Amino acid sequence: MAAIIYPVTPSFAAEIGDVDLSAPIEPADLAAIKEAFATYAVLIFPDQQLSQDQHLDFARHFGPLETTIGVYRRDAPLRVRKEFADVSNLTHDNEVWGKDSRLRLFQLGNRLWHTDSSFKRRPALASLLYARSIPPVGGHTEFADERAAYDALPEATKRRLDSLVAEHSIFTSRARLGFTNFTDEERRQMPPVPQVLVRTIPESGRKSLYLASHAGRIFGMPDAEGRALIDELVAHATQRQFVYTHRWRLRDLVIWDNRCTMHRGMEFDDLRWKRDMQRATVSDIANSCEQEGVVIEAA
Ligand SMILES: [Fe+2]
Repeated sequence: MAAIIYPVTPSFAAEIGDVDLSAPIEPADLAAIKEAFATYAVLIFPDQQLSQDQHLDFARHFGPLETTIGVYRRDAPLRVRKEFADVSNLTHDNEVWGKDSRLRLFQLGNRLWHTDSSFKRRPALASLLYARSIPPVGGHTEFADERAAYDALPEATKRRLDSLVAEHSIFTSRARLGFTNFTDEERRQMPPVPQVLVRTIPESGRKSLYLASHAGRIFGMPDAEGRALIDELVAHATQRQFVYTHRWRLRDLVIWDNRCTMHRGMEFDDLRWKRDMQRATVSDIANSCEQEGVVIEAA
């Protein structure tokens, strides 16, 4: 049976039915899914029974996979395979983490609006998050459509933003939460990187803002001014009309386009309920500046 697409919002999120991602996927289904991905940017596949291998196999249809930044962290062994980002509130022995655990403070950054891996020179193209265990209340994920947010900007603002480049760093988003306790090795492993502020999504031809809490300054602009512009644009892009809130069901697989969306995890009682999510992350083809043909001056 061919995959069926049900829009959840008119142009941003859709559910995909009649497809079993644990089995090899039919070429026609894959083509329909990729077309829907270009149109909607957030796709939900309800009630999928996926092993870690099956999850990774489906993700590879979208491109090469990232390795989680968890491998740079020396303070905790990995709970899941290194291809996954462990988006859970669990320790490596599957217990709910402690109030003051370093992992908990680090993961708090997921509550800020961001797009995955924009702090890497080659950022993430897509993320595929699978719900293995969810809390009974809270723990939603919000997504913001940065294409729609770009479209809604005044023409003069679009022209001004088109040539700008921001500096992204994982330490910028963590510092916003007052978390600065990183080792020299961690800082060496993840130096700041440039990313354009506006990018074009090749499959749809649509222009999009490219923002994240990882963005700290804008090249060629005083730090405070650049920071203020980034904050202003994030506030613009996350207005209610651009946002879809996903209320997770067990065994949902959600895939989103990191090139043109931001997302954030919402609050839940993380010291009481287990929330066990695994994220496979597909690498983009190159740094966003390279893709847009923007050359940045050394700063
Ligand atoms: Fe994320």
